[in-house]
Amino acid sequence: MTATIIVGGQWGDEGKGKIVDYLASQADCVVRYQGGNNAGHTVVVHGREHKMHLVPSGIFYGKLSIIGNGVVLDPAVLTREMDYLGSQQISLEPLRISECAHVIFPYHIRQDILEEEQKGSSRIGTTRLGIGPAYQDKSARVGIRVIDVLDGEGFPAVLRRNLDLKNSLLRRVYGDPGFSDGDYRDILERYQAFARRLAPFVTDTAVLIHDAVTQGRNVLFEGAQGTLLDLDHGTYPYVTSSHPIAGGACIGAGVGPTLINRVVAVVKCYTTRVGDGPFPTELKGETAEFIREAGHEYGTTTGRPRRVGWLDLVVVGVTRRTSGASYLALTRLDTLSGLETVKICVAYRHEGRRLDVFPHSLKVLAACEPVYEEFPGWEDIGPGVSQWTDLPAAAQGYVKAVEELSGIPVAMVSVGRERVETIQLASVF
Ligand code: GDP
Ligand code: IMO
Ligand code: MG
Repeated sequence: MTATIIVGGQWGDEGKGKIVDYLASQADCVVRYQGGNNAGHTVVVHGREHKMHLVPSGIFYGKLSIIGNGVVLDPAVLTREMDYLGSQQISLEPLRISECAHVIFPYHIRQDILEEEQKGSSRIGTTRLGIGPAYQDKSARVGIRVIDVLDGEGFPAVLRRNLDLKNSLLRRVYGDPGFSDGDYRDILERYQAFARRLAPFVTDTAVLIHDAVTQGRNVLFEGAQGTLLDLDHGTYPYVTSSHPIAGGACIGAGVGPTLINRVVAVVKCYTTRVGDGPFPTELKGETAEFIREAGHEYGTTTGRPRRVGWLDLVVVGVTRRTSGASYLALTRLDTLSGLETVKICVAYRHEGRRLDVFPHSLKVLAACEPVYEEFPGWEDIGPGVSQWTDLPAAAQGYVKAVEELSGIPVAMVSVGRERVETIQLASVF
């Protein structure tokens, strides 16, 4: 029996989808435990690119694919994704949806946009998909769960109550017209149709997951976002509204911590960030352009150019501590090919003092200068590489340096987008 949590070790987009898809061949079950369709997980199978926002990446191997209770679910996006998978002849039979997942409604999306606009230059740079407001409602204990939408008798009244609540917020605080009675009927009908479509997949997923783990199956938990976007441990307030760290899997899947065996932190060989907020190793100019173009660093969900910078091990240190990372899965080694030298940030310097631990004051963080170590670059990593011995010596040296400097053993190195372009150095199950 092995339960392994995959977390993003930076600010998201580390390549979790690719790593989870690769490992899914060795797993029986894959579970998404937090976030919503703000996630964009790219999986490339036999030259075909699939961008998933909600359905776990295990679906491509036909493994039990569970959307856990900690996810906020936009049924319009989920049903679109299901249609897409169907069109690709990928079976939806293994899909399961938690009855306790909270549901995103059009008023959450409107609220997200209005909140961002009101903040002006101090906006968070959210995906504007209603993620934050849906989690707000969950915490305020007025959210609507999947099970509530499926309750044919109760749902109309609960929706009416919530729409009235939101209308007073939208109208009084933001001067928005809000949602009319016609909108109410529209939303009601659309969501009732979603309920009919999703009902066959809905169940108590915490029981399913518990059974899978205790019956000796290999279960993978697929995190969304990354440590530095964690509501408690990230660069608050420039974070998402959920817990991408390993502890988030316990809550968002309903699995006890004693049942978890390993945590794999997915870390890119450089750093990217979409949205606003501090980013100590951020690069501008030529090297940034080189990495952005070599890595096609544009958001999967929003298409925004991602901010890029050198690998920051002070950031990875937060992941090591807060998720208890057993292993690293290092991605995009190929993207750095062609640089004369590559840098790794090992500490910060703040007002003349060296900082080895990530500071949580944004003011301090913004004033931090990275302390770099520099390593020789490598010319090229050819397509289809899946063996350690096929890596250029300098690339091997870089991986070894990351392992030593981060204090986390590297179990996997990803050297391309394709499933096969993966070097596995240790089993994560
Ligand atoms: P996620 O959100 O963590 O799943 O990551 P995204 O899918 O948003 O972004 C990662 C991008 O990098 C995707 O386009 C992947 O196909 C791609 N990718 C993942 N690993 C590698 C790698 O080792 N090399 C290259 N070149 N691309 C990779
Ligand atoms: P994956 O799973 C990168 C960022 C947004 C914004 C902040 C808050 O693909 O790694 P939100 O809409 O969640 O309230 O926005 O979080 N963000 C991500 N950045 N990858 C993601 O997911 C992200 N999901 C949210 O850009 O800065
Ligand atoms: Mg992504």
